[in-house]
Amino acid sequence: MASRLIQVDDFDLVIFGATGDLARRKILPGLFRRHAGGQFPEGARIIAAARAEMDDAAFRADIRAAIAEFDPDRAEDPELPGFLDRLSYVRVDACGEEGWPELAARMRKDVVQAFYFSVAPSLFGDLAERLARHGIAGPQARIVVEKPFGRDLASARELNQVLARHFDERQIYRIDHYLGKETVQNLMAVRFANILFEPLWNAHYIDHVQITVAETVGVAGRAAYYDHAGAMRDMVQNHLLQLVCLIAMEPPWHFGPDAARDEKLKVIRALETVPPADIVRGQYAGEGDEPDYLTDVGNPDSRTESFVALKLRIANWRWQGVPFYLRTGKCLRARTSEIAVVFREPPHSIFDTADQQKPNQLVIRLQPNEGINLKVMIKEPGPGGMRLVQVPLDMSFAEALGPEGAEMPDAYERLITDVIRGNQTLFMRGDEVEAAWAWADPIIAAWEQGSARPEPYQPGTSGPDEALRLIHRDGRRWRDIKT
Ligand code: BG6
Repeated sequence: MASRLIQVDDFDLVIFGATGDLARRKILPGLFRRHAGGQFPEGARIIAAARAEMDDAAFRADIRAAIAEFDPDRAEDPELPGFLDRLSYVRVDACGEEGWPELAARMRKDVVQAFYFSVAPSLFGDLAERLARHGIAGPQARIVVEKPFGRDLASARELNQVLARHFDERQIYRIDHYLGKETVQNLMAVRFANILFEPLWNAHYIDHVQITVAETVGVAGRAAYYDHAGAMRDMVQNHLLQLVCLIAMEPPWHFGPDAARDEKLKVIRALETVPPADIVRGQYAGEGDEPDYLTDVGNPDSRTESFVALKLRIANWRWQGVPFYLRTGKCLRARTSEIAVVFREPPHSIFDTADQQKPNQLVIRLQPNEGINLKVMIKEPGPGGMRLVQVPLDMSFAEALGPEGAEMPDAYERLITDVIRGNQTLFMRGDEVEAAWAWADPIIAAWEQGSARPEPYQPGTSGPDEALRLIHRDGRRWRDIKT
Protein backbone atom coordinates (compact mmCIF):
# COMPACT_ATOMS: atom_id res chain seq x y z
CA MET A 1 0.00 0.00 0.00
CA ALA A 2 1.90 3.08 -1.19
CA SER A 3 1.41 6.24 0.82
CA ARG A 4 0.21 9.23 -1.16
CA LEU A 5 2.98 11.68 -1.68
CA ILE A 6 2.17 15.35 -1.87
CA GLN A 7 5.01 17.72 -2.58
CA VAL A 8 5.48 20.58 -0.17
CA ASP A 9 5.68 24.20 -1.29
CA ASP A 10 9.01 25.74 -2.20
CA PHE A 11 11.03 26.62 0.91
CA ASP A 12 14.22 27.94 2.44
CA LEU A 13 15.00 26.04 5.63
CA VAL A 14 17.76 27.45 7.81
CA ILE A 15 19.23 25.09 10.40
CA PHE A 16 21.06 26.85 13.21
CA GLY A 17 23.46 24.43 14.87
CA ALA A 18 23.69 22.45 11.62
CA THR A 19 27.03 20.92 12.55
CA GLY A 20 25.71 19.61 15.87
CA ASP A 21 24.80 16.06 16.83
CA LEU A 22 21.02 16.31 16.37
CA ALA A 23 21.34 17.89 12.93
CA ARG A 24 23.82 15.27 11.72
CA ARG A 25 22.07 12.32 13.33
CA LYS A 26 18.40 13.11 12.74
CA ILE A 27 17.50 16.35 10.96
CA LEU A 28 19.65 16.13 7.83
CA PRO A 29 19.29 12.35 7.29
CA GLY A 30 15.51 12.84 7.71
CA LEU A 31 15.50 15.66 5.16
CA PHE A 32 17.48 13.48 2.79
CA ARG A 33 14.86 10.72 3.01
CA ARG A 34 12.10 13.21 2.16
CA HIS A 35 14.18 14.51 -0.74
CA ALA A 36 14.74 10.94 -1.98
CA GLY A 37 11.02 10.31 -1.58
CA GLY A 38 10.36 13.13 -4.06
CA GLN A 39 8.64 15.39 -1.55
CA PHE A 40 10.69 18.53 -2.15
CA PRO A 41 10.18 20.83 -5.11
CA GLU A 42 13.07 21.63 -7.39
CA GLY A 43 14.04 24.96 -5.80
CA ALA A 44 13.83 23.98 -2.09
CA ARG A 45 17.00 24.90 -0.23
CA ILE A 46 18.55 24.03 3.10
CA ILE A 47 20.90 26.61 4.54
CA ALA A 48 23.17 25.50 7.35
CA ALA A 49 24.14 28.15 9.85
CA ALA A 50 26.74 27.55 12.53
CA ARG A 51 29.84 29.02 14.08
CA ALA A 52 32.44 26.69 12.58
CA GLU A 53 34.68 27.98 9.80
CA MET A 54 33.48 26.00 6.79
CA ASP A 55 32.41 26.43 3.18
CA ASP A 56 29.62 24.78 1.19
CA ALA A 57 31.85 21.97 -0.05
CA ALA A 58 33.11 21.11 3.44
CA PHE A 59 29.60 21.12 4.87
CA ARG A 60 28.30 18.88 2.08
CA ALA A 61 31.18 16.46 2.69
CA ASP A 62 30.34 16.42 6.38
CA ILE A 63 26.69 15.61 5.69
CA ARG A 64 27.67 12.89 3.24
CA ALA A 65 29.73 11.39 6.09
CA ALA A 66 26.83 11.84 8.55
CA ILE A 67 24.45 9.96 6.25
CA ALA A 68 27.00 7.18 5.81
CA GLU A 69 27.25 6.94 9.60
CA PHE A 70 23.60 7.27 10.63
CA ASP A 71 21.75 5.89 7.61
CA PRO A 72 24.35 3.56 6.07
CA ASP A 73 21.86 1.85 3.73
CA ARG A 74 21.48 5.14 1.91
CA ALA A 75 25.16 6.09 1.73
CA GLU A 76 25.34 5.16 -1.98
CA ASP A 77 21.84 6.33 -2.86
CA PRO A 78 21.83 7.87 -6.37
CA GLU A 79 19.66 10.70 -4.99
CA LEU A 80 22.37 11.81 -2.56
CA PRO A 81 24.27 14.21 -4.88
CA GLY A 82 21.00 15.99 -5.72
CA PHE A 83 20.26 16.40 -2.01
CA LEU A 84 23.74 17.70 -1.24
CA ASP A 85 23.30 20.30 -4.00
CA ARG A 86 20.42 21.79 -2.02
CA LEU A 87 22.73 22.48 0.93
CA SER A 88 24.76 25.58 1.53
CA TYR A 89 26.61 26.94 4.55
CA VAL A 90 26.80 30.36 6.18
CA ARG A 91 29.00 31.13 9.15
CA VAL A 92 26.78 32.88 11.67
CA ASP A 93 27.46 33.94 15.22
CA ALA A 94 24.25 33.50 17.25
CA CYS A 95 25.33 36.02 19.88
CA GLY A 96 27.33 38.37 17.68
CA GLU A 97 26.79 40.26 14.45
CA GLU A 98 28.90 38.13 12.16
CA GLY A 99 27.18 36.37 9.27
CA TRP A 100 23.69 37.87 9.61
CA PRO A 101 23.83 40.15 6.55
CA GLU A 102 25.12 37.18 4.49
CA LEU A 103 22.25 35.04 5.74
CA ALA A 104 19.76 37.80 4.94
CA ALA A 105 21.14 38.04 1.41
CA ARG A 106 20.63 34.31 0.84
CA MET A 107 16.98 34.16 1.89
CA ARG A 108 14.18 34.36 -0.64
CA LYS A 109 11.12 36.33 0.39
CA ASP A 110 8.57 34.58 -1.83
CA VAL A 111 8.88 31.03 -0.45
CA VAL A 112 8.14 29.36 2.89
CA GLN A 113 10.82 30.36 5.39
CA ALA A 114 11.60 28.05 8.30
CA PHE A 115 14.30 28.43 10.94
CA TYR A 116 15.28 25.39 12.96
CA PHE A 117 16.90 26.28 16.31
CA SER A 118 18.97 23.14 16.87
CA VAL A 119 21.01 24.93 19.54
CA ALA A 120 21.07 25.30 23.32
CA PRO A 121 17.88 26.99 24.62
CA SER A 122 20.03 29.80 26.04
CA LEU A 123 20.54 30.93 22.42
CA PHE A 124 16.84 30.97 21.41
CA GLY A 125 16.39 34.60 22.44
CA ASP A 126 19.53 35.77 20.62
CA LEU A 127 18.53 34.00 17.43
CA ALA A 128 14.95 35.27 17.51
CA GLU A 129 16.05 38.83 18.15
CA ARG A 130 18.64 38.84 15.34
CA LEU A 131 16.27 37.23 12.84
CA ALA A 132 13.83 40.04 13.53
CA ARG A 133 16.37 42.88 13.64
CA HIS A 134 18.01 41.91 10.36
CA GLY A 135 14.61 41.61 8.69
CA ILE A 136 15.34 37.99 7.82
CA ALA A 137 12.13 36.35 9.03
CA GLY A 138 8.94 37.54 7.35
CA PRO A 139 5.48 37.42 9.01
CA GLN A 140 4.86 33.93 7.60
CA ALA A 141 8.20 32.55 8.81
CA ARG A 142 8.25 29.59 11.19
CA ILE A 143 10.73 28.78 13.91
CA VAL A 144 11.29 25.28 15.21
CA VAL A 145 12.60 24.77 18.73
CA GLU A 146 13.82 21.58 20.31
CA LYS A 147 13.31 20.23 23.75
CA PRO A 148 14.23 20.72 26.53
CA PHE A 149 11.82 23.64 26.55
CA GLY A 150 12.85 25.02 29.92
CA ARG A 151 13.75 23.05 33.04
CA ASP A 152 10.79 24.22 35.13
CA LEU A 153 7.71 26.40 34.82
CA ALA A 154 9.59 29.66 35.39
CA SER A 155 12.22 29.02 32.72
CA ALA A 156 9.63 27.71 30.22
CA ARG A 157 7.56 30.86 30.75
CA GLU A 158 10.61 33.00 30.22
CA LEU A 159 11.44 31.16 26.98
CA ASN A 160 7.88 31.59 25.77
CA GLN A 161 8.08 35.30 26.51
CA VAL A 162 11.43 35.68 24.77
CA LEU A 163 10.11 34.01 21.61
CA ALA A 164 6.81 35.91 21.78
CA ARG A 165 8.66 39.22 21.51
CA HIS A 166 9.46 38.42 17.89
CA PHE A 167 7.13 35.63 16.78
CA ASP A 168 3.42 34.82 17.06
CA GLU A 169 2.39 31.55 18.64
CA ARG A 170 1.25 30.34 15.20
CA GLN A 171 4.85 30.72 14.00
CA ILE A 172 6.41 28.68 16.83
CA TYR A 173 6.83 24.91 16.43
CA ARG A 174 7.94 23.25 19.68
CA ILE A 175 9.13 19.74 18.87
CA ASP A 176 8.33 16.68 20.92
CA HIS A 177 9.59 14.02 18.56
CA TYR A 178 7.26 11.41 20.12
CA LEU A 179 4.36 13.15 18.42
CA GLY A 180 6.02 12.56 15.06
CA LYS A 181 6.23 8.80 15.55
CA GLU A 182 3.87 6.99 13.22
CA THR A 183 2.37 4.79 15.90
CA VAL A 184 1.81 7.68 18.27
CA GLN A 185 -0.26 9.34 15.58
CA ASN A 186 -1.92 6.01 15.10
CA LEU A 187 -3.22 6.27 18.63
CA MET A 188 -5.45 9.06 17.45
CA ALA A 189 -6.47 7.14 14.34
CA VAL A 190 -7.33 4.06 16.41
CA ARG A 191 -9.33 6.06 18.92
CA PHE A 192 -11.10 8.51 16.65
CA ALA A 193 -11.45 6.73 13.31
CA ASN A 194 -13.14 3.65 14.80
CA ILE A 195 -16.43 3.42 16.66
CA LEU A 196 -15.32 0.24 18.38
CA PHE A 197 -13.26 1.65 21.22
CA GLU A 198 -14.94 4.90 22.24
CA PRO A 199 -17.93 3.36 24.10
CA LEU A 200 -15.48 1.37 26.27
CA TRP A 201 -12.93 4.16 26.69
CA ASN A 202 -13.77 5.24 30.23
CA ALA A 203 -13.71 4.34 33.89
CA HIS A 204 -16.68 1.97 33.52
CA TYR A 205 -14.74 -0.43 31.33
CA ILE A 206 -11.06 0.36 31.79
CA ASP A 207 -9.31 -0.90 34.90
CA HIS A 208 -5.99 0.85 34.37
CA VAL A 209 -3.48 2.00 31.76
CA GLN A 210 0.24 1.19 31.67
CA ILE A 211 2.76 3.19 29.69
CA THR A 212 6.32 1.92 29.42
CA VAL A 213 9.18 3.57 27.57
CA ALA A 214 12.23 1.42 28.28
CA GLU A 215 15.71 1.93 26.87
CA THR A 216 18.78 -0.30 27.02
CA VAL A 217 21.31 2.50 26.62
CA GLY A 218 22.82 4.40 29.54
CA VAL A 219 23.63 8.09 29.58
CA ALA A 220 27.27 7.96 28.51
CA GLY A 221 27.93 10.57 25.84
CA ARG A 222 25.21 12.93 27.13
CA ALA A 223 26.24 13.01 30.75
CA ALA A 224 26.44 16.77 31.20
CA TYR A 225 22.92 17.36 29.89
CA TYR A 226 21.36 14.29 31.47
CA ASP A 227 22.71 14.74 34.96
CA HIS A 228 21.00 18.15 35.07
CA ALA A 229 17.77 16.76 33.68
CA GLY A 230 17.06 13.19 34.83
CA ALA A 231 14.28 10.95 33.57
CA MET A 232 11.51 13.19 34.89
CA ARG A 233 12.56 16.23 32.86
CA ASP A 234 14.01 14.27 29.95
CA MET A 235 11.13 11.86 29.32
CA VAL A 236 8.14 12.13 31.66
CA GLN A 237 7.33 15.85 31.51
CA ASN A 238 7.20 15.70 27.72
CA HIS A 239 7.09 12.36 25.89
CA LEU A 240 5.19 10.30 28.47
CA LEU A 241 2.75 13.07 29.32
CA GLN A 242 2.01 13.48 25.63
CA LEU A 243 1.18 9.78 25.43
CA VAL A 244 -1.09 10.15 28.45
CA CYS A 245 -2.83 13.04 26.68
CA LEU A 246 -3.46 11.07 23.51
CA ILE A 247 -4.95 8.18 25.47
CA ALA A 248 -6.98 10.33 27.83
CA MET A 249 -8.15 13.31 25.76
CA GLU A 250 -11.72 13.87 24.65
CA PRO A 251 -12.32 13.63 20.90
CA PRO A 252 -11.34 17.00 19.42
CA TRP A 253 -13.95 18.43 17.05
CA HIS A 254 -11.34 18.40 14.30
CA PHE A 255 -7.82 17.04 13.78
CA GLY A 256 -6.32 20.50 13.63
CA PRO A 257 -3.82 22.42 15.74
CA ASP A 258 -6.00 24.23 18.21
CA ALA A 259 -8.76 21.66 18.51
CA ALA A 260 -6.31 18.84 19.32
CA ARG A 261 -4.10 20.93 21.59
CA ASP A 262 -7.05 22.35 23.52
CA GLU A 263 -8.08 18.80 24.43
CA LYS A 264 -4.56 17.76 25.41
CA LEU A 265 -4.23 20.83 27.60
CA LYS A 266 -7.42 19.89 29.48
CA VAL A 267 -5.89 16.52 30.32
CA ILE A 268 -2.67 18.04 31.63
CA ARG A 269 -4.60 20.51 33.74
CA ALA A 270 -6.68 17.67 35.18
CA LEU A 271 -3.62 15.68 36.36
CA GLU A 272 -3.66 15.25 40.11
CA THR A 273 -0.62 15.99 42.22
CA VAL A 274 1.32 12.76 42.68
CA PRO A 275 1.94 11.94 46.35
CA PRO A 276 5.50 10.79 47.18
CA ALA A 277 4.23 7.28 47.92
CA ASP A 278 3.10 6.94 44.30
CA ILE A 279 6.43 7.65 42.69
CA VAL A 280 9.70 5.72 42.55
CA ARG A 281 12.99 6.94 41.17
CA GLY A 282 15.93 4.75 40.34
CA GLN A 283 19.53 4.98 39.31
CA TYR A 284 21.31 2.17 37.48
CA ALA A 285 24.10 0.32 39.25
CA GLY A 286 27.17 -1.09 37.50
CA GLU A 287 27.64 -4.66 36.46
CA GLY A 288 30.92 -6.38 35.54
CA ASP A 289 32.81 -3.93 33.34
CA GLU A 290 29.74 -1.82 32.74
CA PRO A 291 29.93 1.45 34.68
CA ASP A 292 27.15 2.60 36.98
CA TYR A 293 25.25 5.86 36.51
CA LEU A 294 27.54 7.80 38.85
CA THR A 295 30.60 6.79 36.86
CA ASP A 296 28.88 7.52 33.55
CA VAL A 297 28.12 11.09 34.62
CA GLY A 298 31.38 11.53 36.53
CA ASN A 299 29.55 12.76 39.60
CA PRO A 300 29.79 10.42 42.62
CA ASP A 301 27.20 12.44 44.56
CA SER A 302 24.59 12.67 41.84
CA ARG A 303 21.00 12.11 42.97
CA THR A 304 19.64 12.38 39.44
CA GLU A 305 17.25 9.61 38.44
CA SER A 306 17.75 7.42 35.37
CA PHE A 307 14.41 5.69 36.03
CA VAL A 308 10.97 6.85 37.12
CA ALA A 309 7.78 4.91 37.79
CA LEU A 310 4.65 6.64 38.98
CA LYS A 311 0.93 6.32 39.40
CA LEU A 312 -1.04 9.12 37.86
CA ARG A 313 -4.66 10.08 38.30
CA ILE A 314 -6.75 12.27 36.07
CA ALA A 315 -9.46 14.23 37.84
CA ASN A 316 -12.34 14.17 35.40
CA TRP A 317 -15.50 12.15 34.75
CA ARG A 318 -14.04 9.87 32.12
CA TRP A 319 -11.05 8.74 34.18
CA GLN A 320 -12.33 8.88 37.73
CA GLY A 321 -10.59 6.10 39.68
CA VAL A 322 -8.53 4.77 36.74
CA PRO A 323 -4.81 4.79 37.53
CA PHE A 324 -2.28 5.44 34.78
CA TYR A 325 0.99 3.68 35.63
CA LEU A 326 3.98 5.22 33.86
CA ARG A 327 7.59 4.07 33.82
CA THR A 328 10.66 4.93 31.85
CA GLY A 329 14.35 4.35 32.32
CA LYS A 330 17.79 3.78 30.91
CA CYS A 331 19.76 0.51 31.01
CA LEU A 332 16.65 -1.63 31.24
CA ARG A 333 16.06 -5.14 29.94
CA ALA A 334 14.94 -4.22 26.42
CA ARG A 335 14.25 -1.23 24.22
CA THR A 336 10.53 -1.09 24.00
CA SER A 337 7.76 1.49 24.19
CA GLU A 338 4.17 0.47 24.59
CA ILE A 339 0.83 1.50 25.99
CA ALA A 340 -1.43 -1.14 27.49
CA VAL A 341 -5.07 -0.37 28.15
CA VAL A 342 -6.27 -3.04 30.56
CA PHE A 343 -10.03 -3.52 30.65
CA ARG A 344 -12.18 -4.67 33.53
CA GLU A 345 -13.39 -8.25 33.73
CA PRO A 346 -16.97 -9.09 32.73
CA PRO A 347 -19.33 -8.37 35.64
CA HIS A 348 -20.47 -11.98 35.90
CA SER A 349 -19.00 -15.18 34.52
CA ILE A 350 -21.33 -17.82 33.13
CA PHE A 351 -18.50 -20.35 32.99
CA ASP A 352 -17.45 -22.67 35.78
CA THR A 353 -13.89 -21.97 34.79
CA ALA A 354 -14.09 -18.32 35.77
CA ASP A 355 -10.64 -18.52 37.34
CA GLN A 356 -9.23 -18.83 33.82
CA GLN A 357 -10.69 -15.45 32.95
CA LYS A 358 -8.16 -12.72 32.18
CA PRO A 359 -8.93 -9.09 31.42
CA ASN A 360 -8.96 -7.89 27.82
CA GLN A 361 -5.97 -5.76 26.97
CA LEU A 362 -5.34 -3.43 24.09
CA VAL A 363 -1.60 -3.08 23.67
CA ILE A 364 -0.30 -0.42 21.34
CA ARG A 365 3.36 -1.04 20.52
CA LEU A 366 5.14 2.17 19.64
CA GLN A 367 8.54 0.62 18.99
CA PRO A 368 9.97 -1.68 17.88
CA ASN A 369 7.66 -3.78 15.69
CA GLU A 370 4.89 -1.17 15.70
CA GLY A 371 1.43 -2.55 15.92
CA ILE A 372 -1.64 -3.32 17.95
CA ASN A 373 -2.43 -6.39 19.93
CA LEU A 374 -5.86 -7.04 21.39
CA LYS A 375 -5.99 -9.84 23.91
CA VAL A 376 -9.31 -11.69 23.94
CA MET A 377 -10.67 -14.78 25.66
CA ILE A 378 -11.71 -17.77 23.54
CA LYS A 379 -12.54 -21.40 24.15
CA GLU A 380 -9.53 -23.62 24.31
CA PRO A 381 -9.97 -26.09 21.44
CA GLY A 382 -10.70 -29.74 22.31
CA PRO A 383 -13.40 -31.90 23.80
CA GLY A 384 -14.34 -32.17 27.43
CA GLY A 385 -15.86 -29.00 28.77
CA MET A 386 -15.46 -25.30 28.34
CA ARG A 387 -11.92 -24.23 29.07
CA LEU A 388 -10.98 -20.64 28.43
CA VAL A 389 -7.73 -19.30 27.06
CA GLN A 390 -6.53 -15.82 26.22
CA VAL A 391 -5.15 -15.26 22.72
CA PRO A 392 -3.77 -12.19 21.00
CA LEU A 393 -5.38 -10.64 17.95
CA ASP A 394 -2.06 -9.36 16.76
CA MET A 395 -1.58 -6.82 14.05
CA SER A 396 1.85 -5.73 13.07
CA PHE A 397 1.47 -2.56 10.99
CA ALA A 398 4.37 -3.62 8.79
CA GLU A 399 2.60 -6.87 7.89
CA ALA A 400 -0.81 -5.30 7.54
CA LEU A 401 0.40 -2.50 5.29
CA GLY A 402 2.75 -4.53 3.08
CA PRO A 403 6.38 -3.89 2.21
CA GLU A 404 5.99 -0.17 1.56
CA GLY A 405 4.06 0.32 4.77
CA ALA A 406 6.87 -1.40 6.60
CA GLU A 407 9.06 1.60 6.02
CA MET A 408 7.96 3.85 8.84
CA PRO A 409 9.16 7.40 8.34
CA ASP A 410 11.27 8.76 11.13
CA ALA A 411 9.56 11.26 13.44
CA TYR A 412 11.76 14.13 12.24
CA GLU A 413 10.83 13.56 8.60
CA ARG A 414 7.18 13.90 9.39
CA LEU A 415 7.58 16.87 11.70
CA ILE A 416 9.80 18.93 9.41
CA THR A 417 7.43 18.48 6.49
CA ASP A 418 4.60 19.59 8.78
CA VAL A 419 6.57 22.76 9.55
CA ILE A 420 6.93 23.50 5.84
CA ARG A 421 3.22 22.84 5.34
CA GLY A 422 2.36 25.11 8.29
CA ASN A 423 0.58 22.41 10.29
CA GLN A 424 1.09 22.79 14.06
CA THR A 425 -1.12 19.89 15.18
CA LEU A 426 1.79 17.70 16.24
CA PHE A 427 3.72 20.45 18.00
CA MET A 428 3.33 21.63 21.57
CA ARG A 429 1.66 24.91 22.27
CA GLY A 430 3.21 27.27 24.81
CA ASP A 431 0.41 26.82 27.35
CA GLU A 432 0.65 23.03 27.07
CA VAL A 433 4.35 23.05 27.91
CA GLU A 434 3.78 25.38 30.84
CA ALA A 435 0.96 23.20 32.19
CA ALA A 436 3.21 20.13 31.98
CA TRP A 437 5.91 21.91 33.98
CA ALA A 438 3.36 23.11 36.51
CA TRP A 439 2.52 19.43 37.13
CA ALA A 440 6.15 18.22 37.21
CA ASP A 441 7.68 21.06 39.24
CA PRO A 442 6.46 20.06 42.74
CA ILE A 443 7.64 16.48 42.26
CA ILE A 444 11.11 17.58 41.19
CA ALA A 445 11.27 20.27 43.88
CA ALA A 446 10.49 17.71 46.60
CA TRP A 447 13.34 15.49 45.36
CA GLU A 448 15.75 18.38 45.18
CA GLN A 449 14.86 19.60 48.67
CA GLY A 450 14.99 16.14 50.24
CA SER A 451 18.09 14.09 50.90
CA ALA A 452 16.90 10.68 49.68
CA ARG A 453 18.81 8.97 46.92
CA PRO A 454 17.18 7.19 43.98
CA GLU A 455 16.80 3.41 44.42
CA PRO A 456 19.63 1.49 42.77
CA TYR A 457 18.70 -1.08 40.11
CA GLN A 458 20.67 -3.65 38.21
CA PRO A 459 21.14 -2.92 34.52
CA GLY A 460 19.25 -5.32 32.26
CA THR A 461 16.29 -5.59 34.65
CA SER A 462 12.95 -3.81 34.70
CA GLY A 463 14.09 -1.23 37.25
CA PRO A 464 14.08 -1.11 41.05
CA ASP A 465 11.93 -3.53 43.06
CA GLU A 466 10.05 -0.56 44.52
CA ALA A 467 8.61 0.06 41.05
CA LEU A 468 7.19 -3.46 41.07
CA ARG A 469 5.70 -2.87 44.50
CA LEU A 470 4.12 0.39 43.32
CA ILE A 471 1.74 -1.60 41.15
CA HIS A 472 1.63 -4.89 43.11
CA ARG A 473 0.21 -3.15 46.13
CA ASP A 474 -2.83 -2.28 43.97
CA GLY A 475 -3.20 -5.97 43.03
CA ARG A 476 -1.91 -5.39 39.50
CA ARG A 477 1.23 -6.31 37.57
CA TRP A 478 3.45 -4.54 35.05
CA ARG A 479 3.66 -6.19 31.69
CA ASP A 480 7.06 -7.74 30.98
CA ILE A 481 9.63 -5.48 29.37
CA LYS A 482 10.58 -7.37 26.23
CA THR A 483 10.99 -6.65 22.54
C1 BG6 B 1 14.95 12.00 23.88
C2 BG6 B 1 15.63 11.91 25.21
O1 BG6 B 1 14.05 13.07 23.87
O2 BG6 B 1 14.26 10.79 23.62
C3 BG6 B 1 16.58 10.72 25.24
O3 BG6 B 1 16.36 13.09 25.45
C4 BG6 B 1 15.87 9.46 24.84
O4 BG6 B 1 17.16 10.57 26.53
C5 BG6 B 1 15.11 9.65 23.54
O5 BG6 B 1 16.85 8.45 24.68
C6 BG6 B 1 14.25 8.44 23.25
O6 BG6 B 1 13.72 8.59 21.96
P1 BG6 B 1 13.35 7.33 21.09
O7 BG6 B 1 12.77 7.91 19.84
O8 BG6 B 1 14.61 6.57 20.86
O9 BG6 B 1 12.35 6.54 21.88
